[in-house]
Amino acid sequence: MQISVIGCGYLGAVHAACMAKLGHDVVGIDVDERKIADLAAGKAPFFEPGLEELLLEVQATGRLTFTTDMSAAQGSTVHFVCVGTPQKKGENAADMTYVDAATQALLPYLSAGDVVVGKSTVPVGTAARLAELVLQQEPKAHLAWNPEFLREGHAVKDTLTPDRFVYGVHEGSEDHAAVAALDEVYSTPLGMGTRRLVADYATAELVKAAANSFLATKISFINAMAEVCEAAGADVTVLADAIGLDDRIGRKFLNAGIGFGGGCLPKDIRAFMARAGELGADQALTFLREVDAINMRRRTRTVELTRELCGGVLMGQRITVLGAAFKPDSDDVRDSPALSIAAQLQLQGAVVTVTDPESLGNAARRFPELNYEANTEEALRNADAVLLLTEWKEYRHLDPHETRDLVGNARILDGRNALDPQKWRAAGWTYRGVGRP
Ligand code: UDX
Repeated sequence: MQISVIGCGYLGAVHAACMAKLGHDVVGIDVDERKIADLAAGKAPFFEPGLEELLLEVQATGRLTFTTDMSAAQGSTVHFVCVGTPQKKGENAADMTYVDAATQALLPYLSAGDVVVGKSTVPVGTAARLAELVLQQEPKAHLAWNPEFLREGHAVKDTLTPDRFVYGVHEGSEDHAAVAALDEVYSTPLGMGTRRLVADYATAELVKAAANSFLATKISFINAMAEVCEAAGADVTVLADAIGLDDRIGRKFLNAGIGFGGGCLPKDIRAFMARAGELGADQALTFLREVDAINMRRRTRTVELTRELCGGVLMGQRITVLGAAFKPDSDDVRDSPALSIAAQLQLQGAVVTVTDPESLGNAARRFPELNYEANTEEALRNADAVLLLTEWKEYRHLDPHETRDLVGNARILDGRNALDPQKWRAAGWTYRGVGRP
């Protein structure tokens, strides 16, 4: 199929490459000339495992091109809208500027039979509104909403073999032309047994908001348990293992730590609350305010734990922060709890050095006042306290003996419960985890 992908960020660049991998002819379109130049040269504009290899592989077939010219969408039958919906400045609601602008820019190039497919995470009601615009422009074109559930760090696999597809179409009709078009787009994964559900627009939009809210709630639940464990002298990691063995609960997403961040969960639960408020259903989602509050409390709590670890004073303490990205295998620092903690420590007088395998460039652009050191050993040298805040594999595998020889004071706060406390204590470290004695 001829496919256009509008917006080539964390979502669109991966989607475009994966659609080409599935055998389609794809053009990726973005207003950012630098991003497009990178992608056209087979270079991923951000760190995502496997993406660069995939870009080179599919570009060699000639099935994937990139441009800043929206007219290149003409001739495609399926147009995926993959632009961002960040949080509005000073408000909880989602900023719809990019979705609206991308759709408007695409309209003149639509032909009869084309399907515009929204993948961005949007407030419920957006698809119905955009469907009107599409129909006004081209009465024989269609709009579908096909939310994306990919995780950064696993984006290629999640796109090629997702857990499920959700198609939101007018009135949720299985016979809708957009359903047939999307079935053709995804014929390979569907052939491998991936489930697909057809829903009306509002349900499809809400599936995404509900899924992210559930994940955020699960993380805040275990972080709330960590608070109680700390007060009671219990161990949240054992508690999570034990409750996770109940199939109805499950162990995934029950890792207590410094909380969730990134470009999705934090802003999506806030946008969901804001939209529910507009719809008069705000009471239904007041619990998400608590989910958000528990999550933000992890950051202040980590600063306090660090102060305790440093003997009650942060002023002048040399603190090494391992990890700046919001999660491992990503260079994304949007709303990263690790960086936000590093910045707070610095504000309180600590001398903070941050290291990360992939995200130092992004981190320095966001928080230029922090010190950055790419080399882990150098970052650790003479530290008064070490904070493991993003659980990259190389930090999980640090040797406590070798690390002790580098630092000034062998004190570590394991903000992700990623290390073996016994091993670190046996090597002479003062070890603090999250929600464990
Ligand atoms: C999330 C959803 O998982 C994905 O389905 C959606 O499409 C986009 O938002 P992502 O933001 O890539 O994906 O990251 P995810 O793996 O969900 O992690 C989110 C945050 O939660 C990270 O900061 C991570 O460190 C944290 N987390 C995750 C925990 O603190 N504990 C856990 O047990 C799991």
